[in-house]
Amino acid sequence: MNNTSAKIALGCDHAAYQLKEQVKAHLQDMGLEVKDFGTFDETSVDYPDYAFFVGKSVVSGECEKGIVLCGTGIGISIAANKIPGVRAALCHDLFTARACRQHNNANILAMGARVLEPEMALQIVDVWLQTEFEGGRHQRRLDKICEIEDTMAVEHAQELANIVNNS
Ligand code: RB5
Repeated sequence: MNNTSAKIALGCDHAAYQLKEQVKAHLQDMGLEVKDFGTFDETSVDYPDYAFFVGKSVVSGECEKGIVLCGTGIGISIAANKIPGVRAALCHDLFTARACRQHNNANILAMGARVLEPEMALQIVDVWLQTEFEGGRHQRRLDKICEIEDTMAVEHAQELANIVNNS
């Protein structure tokens, strides 16, 4: 990744607001451009909203990669992965941060602010940004994920057509 041109989408819920601010400052210190979708304070919010903002930004190409944060990282990663084209990986250590880039070409990193010390979270960000996708046999597996997305989209369209035709 070219650190001087990459744009990173950032989103979190209230539980991860403090960590999001630390991650944002860290990215900016590296010279990266950040698109911050919030949240912007610790008022309770719903993590799917921020997963949606970040996921849409990444799959549209507005941002090259995204980072999403909530208390555990679980809810916001589940929500982000509902968007076709998103490959969000929940990481709590450096091994998974590296592996999700090498094997899964994860385009969104998810972390839990109630799970990780901030120092570890920033190390995970560094490893995740520095690691490239290996391609090869891993691309075949990503292609199969795309096939699942396409199959579900076709089935959904057929169900909608049935509803319209029967109404
Ligand atoms: C918010 O309390 C919490 O549920 C949320 O941040 C996250 O951990 C959900 O997966």
